[in-house]
Amino acid sequence: MPNESPTEIDKIAYDAPLSFPEPSQAWKSKMGERENNRTEKLVYGKDVPIVDLKNKWIIISGANSGIGREAALTFASWGAHLILACREPGPASREPHPVEVVEECKAAAREGGHESTTIEWWRIDMADLGSIEAFGRRWLTTERPLDVLCNNAGVGSSPGKDGKEGVYLTKDGFEFIHQINFLSHVLLTSMLLPSLAKAEAPRIVCTTSCFHYLGQYDISNFNGGTELGQEGVGMYKNNKLYFQIWLTELQRRLLLHGEYKHITVNGFHPGYVASGIWNINRAFWFRWLIVWILMLMARFFGINCQQGSMALVYIATAPECGPDPKKQGGKDERGRGGGRYFNRIWQEEAMPHCRDADARCRVWRKVAEELKLKERGLLDVLGFYGGTSD
Ligand SMILES: NC(=O)c1ccc[n+]([C@@H]2O[C@H](COP(=O)([O-])OP(=O)(O)OC[C@H]3O[C@@H](n4cnc5c(N)ncnc54)[C@H](OP(=O)(O)O)[C@@H]3O)[C@@H](O)[C@H]2O)c1
Repeated sequence: MPNESPTEIDKIAYDAPLSFPEPSQAWKSKMGERENNRTEKLVYGKDVPIVDLKNKWIIISGANSGIGREAALTFASWGAHLILACREPGPASREPHPVEVVEECKAAAREGGHESTTIEWWRIDMADLGSIEAFGRRWLTTERPLDVLCNNAGVGSSPGKDGKEGVYLTKDGFEFIHQINFLSHVLLTSMLLPSLAKAEAPRIVCTTSCFHYLGQYDISNFNGGTELGQEGVGMYKNNKLYFQIWLTELQRRLLLHGEYKHITVNGFHPGYVASGIWNINRAFWFRWLIVWILMLMARFFGINCQQGSMALVYIATAPECGPDPKKQGGKDERGRGGGRYFNRIWQEEAMPHCRDADARCRVWRKVAEELKLKERGLLDVLGFYGGTSD
């Protein structure tokens, strides 16, 4: 059982100043616009070599479109069993129905010589915690080991409040972007840890973003408060920052426990990808114009979804992104472990919050409080407290 009494670090107030200076705007912009993010720098097959995924189980959220769909096709062609975790599209959805993507994946599997893999889509709505729980329970009842969990679903804007600018709350009472892009993935991951632990070299892959450099560490306004910011982009950036911080702390805690230490978790930015993420909510006339400009820019200056998916596939399968044999066991000497951030397939320095035990523990505690993870019995191993001053 973890230590259930607060250490000094756990007693620091959420709104206390952090012990390190906020990085300069110049540094953040430089990191966000790194050369690795550039369209002309393509990733090739030789950079993401084929891995035999026979008998491996992969769950990927947001797999019916964009990066997730392309990654699913690759995983299928490499022989994996796949669960596409998708929502039932609404009548106005411009994205493919998950049923279509299942068929595409089956065709890709057959083409790769894999006739008998299981490829299914399971309903999940990241804006509904009940749906995450149902999905988690459904998976756990299969008693299968889970080899890779890809936390990929995301939205780039909020529907607004009553058709106007403002904070839109889900039925769980959380700001829309906060819940979809961050909270739901934390709950899903926490539920699936025992199943990941059963696999030989399990990985958790989180699609964060270079926008995390532009996020504000603002735990007092964690759930949106009254300020949404420009079309919710502020919440998007903040939540990508929290997600990258949270996964770094998750890796630290996993390493402390024998039954979990072989699990590797990393975050990555897929590149500037021309996907549906730029198709922001169009409730107001001027947003039509914004959407048009965003989509056009992504089309001309971004990479396509297949290129974007290469990063996801790389983090999920490349030996270098697997367990560090010295810390996590395993035989592959190339493994360098987790808690890292990649700009596409190149490791990059993340925001300094990820290296600061206090900043990490505040996010860990706050998200655990919001999701009532302790009450749900999901922190029995990793603990609520347990900060160190590393
Ligand atoms: N595109 C970029 O330049 C870029 C850059 C950095 C990070 N990212 C991140 O990459 C990830 C994938 O995005 P993408 O670029 O591939 O965009 P996308 O094509 O819009 O894909 C987003 C996926 O998330 C799903 N999703 C959204 N809300 C959901 C919900 N409530 N429940 C379940 N699924 C939901 C979408 O399903 P529906 O089709 O049903 O909406 C879709 O499958 C996101 O986390 C995004 O933040 C993208």
